[in-house]
Amino acid sequence: MTDSPSPSPFPSPAQVAREEALVREVVASFDGASSERLKELLGALTRHLHGFVRETRLTEAEWAAAIAFLTRCGDITDAKRQEFILLSDVLGVSMQTIAVNNSYADATEATVMGPFFVDESPHVPIGGDVAQGASGQPCWVEGTVRDTDGKPVAGARIEVWEADEDGFYDVQYGDGRVSARGHLFSDSAGRYAFWAVTPTPYPIPDDGPVGELLQAVGRSPMRASHLHFKVSAPGLHTLVTHIFVRGCEYLDRDSVFGVKESLIRSFEEQPAGAATPDGRAVEGKWSRTRFDIVLAPDRGM
Ligand code: BEZ
Ligand code: FE
Repeated sequence: MTDSPSPSPFPSPAQVAREEALVREVVASFDGASSERLKELLGALTRHLHGFVRETRLTEAEWAAAIAFLTRCGDITDAKRQEFILLSDVLGVSMQTIAVNNSYADATEATVMGPFFVDESPHVPIGGDVAQGASGQPCWVEGTVRDTDGKPVAGARIEVWEADEDGFYDVQYGDGRVSARGHLFSDSAGRYAFWAVTPTPYPIPDDGPVGELLQAVGRSPMRASHLHFKVSAPGLHTLVTHIFVRGCEYLDRDSVFGVKESLIRSFEEQPAGAATPDGRAVEGKWSRTRFDIVLAPDRGM
């Protein structure tokens, strides 16, 4: 790569014509795509990428730095670490994709999945303890699952997972432990309840290129305190979401733009010795919250 002077921010009419001709040529190169949708996606990608290069008058050094950054994202990505999804998350692209695909007005809002969901989680009965030894203040979570007509959904599969009080998911310890995750099924009236731990804030993995990017722009890697849910039932659209803790200091600067007002809940702290909903003996303070879930109709996607 040769050092080149900064490109002019005011390209001549001939230069503009050359740039536009190139965009048209590249877009046309996809005319033989195997489907109309693929052609549409590649055409729009080309127009937006070229638009970015032209609008910013991207220098060759900046282009090379971007390629090096993406290469580092690839280098650190493996079966357990997905830096490209993390990049999509911190750029808000994950949340924009969710917004585009989850516009059903009456249903509970969706938010990011994150990298810590595990398919095979332990089954817990209604009222059971999902924490399974995770550090943190005990938290009683209860609610209902309904459809958009208000009909209770019996037998909905409710997956929950969260970080412990030290800000780590079980899979981050690398010692095979399974804690602070599990699944349960709603009862015949659509009700569910479980014990978990009161969510606390934690950083997204920031020891790679995405962490460098956040640092370079003075952004925090912290996520607002949350508890993840994935809720599914036959004939209904699967919901991936979280509930957030009202009052958490990161609600207005969640590193992945995941917070939605409708998902913020009060986690009411209970004094030590307060009677628990299920009679369980709890040492010290505990908290409780409620999350009533509404699933959208399945759209066959
Ligand atoms: C999470 O909430 O688990 C998460 C979401 C996006 C990026 C990293 C972590
Ligand atoms: Fe999380």
